[in-house]
Amino acid sequence: MTSTYDVLLERLQAAFDRVAPGADPVLRQSERGDYQANGVMSLAKQVGRPPRDVAEEIVGLVNLDEVATVEIAGPGFLNLTISPPFLNTQLRTLLGDARLGVAVASPAKNVVIDYSAPNVAKEMHVGHLRSTVIGDALARMNRFAGHHVIARNHVGDWGTPFGMLIEHLVDLGEDEAMASLSMGDLDSFYRAARTKFDADDAFKERSRARVVALQAGDGETRRLWSILVNESVAYFAEVYTKLDITLAPEDVVGESYYNDMLEDVVRDLDQAGLLVESDGALCVFPPGFTNRDNEPLPLIVQKRDEGFGYAATDLAAVRDRVRNLHADELLYVVGAPQGQHFEMIYAVARLAGWLPENVRCEHVAFGNVLGPDRKMFKTRSGETVKLIGLLDEATERAHAALEGRQSGLSEPEKLHLATQIARAAVKYADLSTERQRDYIFDLERMIAFEGDTGPYLQYAHARVRSIFRRLGTRWDSSAASFALEAPAERELALGLLAFPEAFELALAPLQPHRLCVYLFDLAQRFTSFYDACPVLSAEGALRDERLALCELTARALSLGLSLLGIEAPDQM
Ligand code: ARG
Repeated sequence: MTSTYDVLLERLQAAFDRVAPGADPVLRQSERGDYQANGVMSLAKQVGRPPRDVAEEIVGLVNLDEVATVEIAGPGFLNLTISPPFLNTQLRTLLGDARLGVAVASPAKNVVIDYSAPNVAKEMHVGHLRSTVIGDALARMNRFAGHHVIARNHVGDWGTPFGMLIEHLVDLGEDEAMASLSMGDLDSFYRAARTKFDADDAFKERSRARVVALQAGDGETRRLWSILVNESVAYFAEVYTKLDITLAPEDVVGESYYNDMLEDVVRDLDQAGLLVESDGALCVFPPGFTNRDNEPLPLIVQKRDEGFGYAATDLAAVRDRVRNLHADELLYVVGAPQGQHFEMIYAVARLAGWLPENVRCEHVAFGNVLGPDRKMFKTRSGETVKLIGLLDEATERAHAALEGRQSGLSEPEKLHLATQIARAAVKYADLSTERQRDYIFDLERMIAFEGDTGPYLQYAHARVRSIFRRLGTRWDSSAASFALEAPAERELALGLLAFPEAFELALAPLQPHRLCVYLFDLAQRFTSFYDACPVLSAEGALRDERLALCELTARALSLGLSLLGIEAPDQM
């Protein structure tokens, strides 16, 4: 189906084009649900005429026939009121459309999303939580839009720390090391290695030699290294399962994967005449990047000791993703502090010719997670907060909240529901914040059943489903037609019809919070409707109409939540 928004936009566009090509109308849903069109003012400027004049010409030209009526407002806004028969047609089509009006993208793009990316033998911290949750939502949204998503979990599995980590593993013995890592005790493993490295010169020497052996591809060293990697990756997989994240083991393509490409990357850069030696290191100075003293800023490709770093790996990754994965879009869901790193990577990749103009490249940056004291979220003793512990705590709280309810659920059902609620709480709190902003991790607020929370939206969905349970009999929506006489019915209907543009407005700028805003608004429209319009006690056609609005609401909430990676249980 063509969404209501698209129908209006197409018709307005045709009228705009007849006045003068080049200017576009901008449509947005107004408070009460109908639409307002912007753009007359810039069109008027373009043709050098008074806006009112142009607005009147457009009103005369636009072919809205059965779709809507139009009025001029203010200096040249166009207010559109959708006609009842068109609303009815659109809603009836919506009933039969599993995609709720969202078109399938054509052509489909290859979208490579780099997200989660924790580091081997290190705890996943809350920053990784954000990357994981936002990245997974973007993956789901892109898949739903019809694109081909390739997830890349760029885990930190390479570099100098692996010398000391491997030596520590040797000291501990493989069995004990494996036990400690598989318990998810990653940070104390890392810290112990670090402490020895700093205190013990012999250990330091062994660690250095180990790095060399690792880079040289020594078999035994590689075997020990893969124990570290495998145990950590298995632990990460557990976290993903707990959080219901779609990342699969085969999406783990860590830094080490690009190792064999690095020499070639350097050669390419050299051939392009981009490499400069500076203090013994090989660097590229992309134009436009300077430090505080206004000196050109280098991207270090190969260090003095001949080792390659984080930047070289990311350059190789860009090249690989465009050349071998045929990426049309490269998204990096990584914290805001790495912004300059990515800007420089893109700039160098473009200079090197690895990144054609038509490949969209985006650092999907996000802000910090803060503790209740508004400082970086840390435990009292200053350690990183364990992701998995937070989720367990959220589950316990949700479970306790369910204990107090008369739900008729069995104990295992309650436990399952508690995990669903906990995930919703944590994910929604993250996704509903505009991603560039910091937010305070406040479990109490996140898990509340009231307010703009994940559990509230789940509850709103379950409440709609409960109407159908109380109905008892099977109900068939095919007879429903929509007169929408009560204002609350009409507002809910307009909210439902706005699903496609809400989805698009979230996906295009990679801002999942906009989908959250839409879903919360829809839930509120439903509440107003449900307060004003009895459903089960209505009769005949009115009951069918209201049930159909309920059905569409439940579907919009559950589809919307699923795109955010949040389950919508039928009963709560
Ligand atoms: N492992 C890095 C970290 O924990 C994030 C990697 C992000 N992805 C990338 N391609 N650089 O900070």
